[in-house]
Amino acid sequence: MGKYGYFNDKDKEYVITDNYPPLPWINFLNNDNFTAIISQSAGGAAFYREASTGRITKYNQTRAIPIDRPGYYLYFREEDGSVWAPTYEPVRTSLDSYQCRHGLGYTQFESEYKGIAANVTYFVPRNDNVLLWKVQLTNHREKDVTLKSFSFVEFSFLLAHREPIYWQWCRFYTTTLFNQDMNAVTYDCHVYEDQPKLKVFLSSSEPVTGFDCDRNAFLGRAGTLDLPDAVKNGGLTNKELPGGGFPIGAIQNDITIKAGETVSFTISLGCGLDWETDAEMIKKYQDINTVHAELEAVKEYWSNTIEVFQAEVPDKDIERMINIWNPYNCIVGFNRKMSMTGMTTGMEKGGVQSRDSSQDSMSLVSLRTDLAKERMELIFHFQMPSGEFYSSFDGDIRKPSDFYAVRSDNGVWPVFTTYALVSETGDYDFLKKQIPYYEGENVSILTHMAQGLKHIYGRRGRNNLPLIIDIDWNDNLYIFKEDGNEESVMLAQQLVYACRLLKEMADICGDTDIIQSCDEIIDAMIIALNGEGVWDGDWYKRYIFASDKPALGSKDRREGKIFLNTQSWAVISESTGTKERAVHCMDKAAEMLGTKYGLKLSYPAFTGIPEPEDPLYNNGPGVRENGGIFHHAHTWAVMAETFLRRGDKAYQYYRQILPNVASEERGADLYINEPYAFSSTTLIDPDPRAGEGDMAWFSGTVTWMYLVGTQYILGVRPVLKGLLIDPCICSEWDGYKVSRRYKGTMYHITFKNPEHVSTGVKTITVDGTLMEGTVLPHTDAKEVNVEVVMG
Ligand code: GLC
Repeated sequence: MGKYGYFNDKDKEYVITDNYPPLPWINFLNNDNFTAIISQSAGGAAFYREASTGRITKYNQTRAIPIDRPGYYLYFREEDGSVWAPTYEPVRTSLDSYQCRHGLGYTQFESEYKGIAANVTYFVPRNDNVLLWKVQLTNHREKDVTLKSFSFVEFSFLLAHREPIYWQWCRFYTTTLFNQDMNAVTYDCHVYEDQPKLKVFLSSSEPVTGFDCDRNAFLGRAGTLDLPDAVKNGGLTNKELPGGGFPIGAIQNDITIKAGETVSFTISLGCGLDWETDAEMIKKYQDINTVHAELEAVKEYWSNTIEVFQAEVPDKDIERMINIWNPYNCIVGFNRKMSMTGMTTGMEKGGVQSRDSSQDSMSLVSLRTDLAKERMELIFHFQMPSGEFYSSFDGDIRKPSDFYAVRSDNGVWPVFTTYALVSETGDYDFLKKQIPYYEGENVSILTHMAQGLKHIYGRRGRNNLPLIIDIDWNDNLYIFKEDGNEESVMLAQQLVYACRLLKEMADICGDTDIIQSCDEIIDAMIIALNGEGVWDGDWYKRYIFASDKPALGSKDRREGKIFLNTQSWAVISESTGTKERAVHCMDKAAEMLGTKYGLKLSYPAFTGIPEPEDPLYNNGPGVRENGGIFHHAHTWAVMAETFLRRGDKAYQYYRQILPNVASEERGADLYINEPYAFSSTTLIDPDPRAGEGDMAWFSGTVTWMYLVGTQYILGVRPVLKGLLIDPCICSEWDGYKVSRRYKGTMYHITFKNPEHVSTGVKTITVDGTLMEGTVLPHTDAKEVNVEVVMG
């Protein structure tokens, strides 16, 4: 039991018991087209497809005071004039009980006020663009009661950045009316620019007995959400806004509940591309049975989706994340830049990024193969004939967007994900699929990948390593740029790893030219990487200047002596030449960068003060890319340890950044983020907030933790030849079980570890028959039982 709540694993929920955790603790309610984020106080915003282009309602998560407002509110007014909210906020009338249960695809509030029990479930059905608020009220009082119920949202302007920038103009480009036939407030934001022209509604299953479209009329002169005048006075003012203004949606329902009885009704906030679609949706969800059935369908969807990988392990923290919250994070966070979270505004243009979105797709490969495939095809389309990828583009309107810097590493990530995709599906034809370059000819996906890597290889510096141009994986490195001839050691290592994977794929397609050019790149890079200018004696340098300035990640520097990524990737790319060197650099990383919360990205952090030999880093010392614990990079250290076959070390690192472990061990007040959503970073010394988590949900960590946990630690890993068994675990474990759905078969795999080793497989038995090798043979059976004896 944490300070603010607890996990309810049976129902796959996190239950929040205190209205005020250290930050809004949110959930994502979404289907593939429509998302509503919602906090423990029912704060949040809804958007259609992309948070940047389809913003329907307003929300200020944390960027200005008051935080976490507004949201999808319900006010209940009693006959004596008292007002309360089943979500506690925004009214803040004391409740006799309160609970917010964030589940997979729904958030449920259970509260009680003076004998009225409220159960409000918010969810987005699988196939309609609508947020439903399923309200159930039970009257435990001795008398019948009539409550006036008021539901409220504040409308936004679709293109999200209009809200802070062009609000003064846009507010008059809207029409908010009440439509009697639809039983709904209707909202139309008709700005001339290209975008989906959404028709928005707020409706209910019960007859609407009053409405407001105008914020001024609703709030009144005092103007607070806690107690709007219209609610206080007991009736909405029925004011429309035909010519725009301060658009909101508020509707009133009068609900009578007999003593001892329960009533149910539904509020719906949705959007379609025309009013007819809206009217149909409204009608559909007036039927409470349909609402029930759709909620069950949401739960079933999530159960089926996460079923692809389920484990029983001796460590319940890991089990909970691997089985429930990590795959959930992967899917709801799939839209990354498009998404808004409790911390990200979702206003940035260019919803898809070839680098981040490729990585997000890596875990989707098993969880939602359809989405991963579609996304990868889109990313390959945003590659130029030169081989370079656009860093960022808008998926819906299919246009590249301006980006502040050249990301020299764009080309490696699609290779990793395509390898994962083809290994998952066994559909090798995907590699031959023709996709046009952006404003260019059609070529196969295999060629796209080869061109991407050649392009990176084509720009090299004096150590024969790839040029960083502006930035590689690390977005902050551009501040060190001098003449553009700086080299990236990390990118060289990633290039080697990508070439290894591409070579295997080219082999399947019988493309000897690509195999040959991969070999050439790998050989050249390994020589370069082990040259004097790159290996620093104990570890790999990170960023090499064309001038004589000492490299970032070298002993000659006062700050930024060592960087984590070039040690991890040295191991992952198997480019160290000797095993000793691989072990040595990871040991040094542990020694210099290790903390009880995880591994720092670099050390010492840059201060720029008092001797400004380096430009002042954007982030403060100990924060994010400036020597913080960058979880995304930390996952590669976990992976590297499994490559070194050091299961105990991998296990130790892996646990450190699990959100449930971090929240529990550090304490929720220090960690501050949700215990069920991965954070992007942990602040660390010299920052005084050492241990604080930053940017939950929005992170490349999510996808890599899922891969590392399921494939490299628990060791059930799709490769091109099939499902590879390769555990690398905590040696104390006696064993564990995994169920993995792969190419239509459910594999029930029991691992036994009688000798208490970390890694190594002695025997594998498939349905009672001993097999050779460690790749499970293909089968048409629906279920297969596998026993693995480690040793
Ligand atoms: C952020 C960016 C990602 C980058 C990382 C490190 O997570 O979204 O693209 O690689 O920071 O700078």
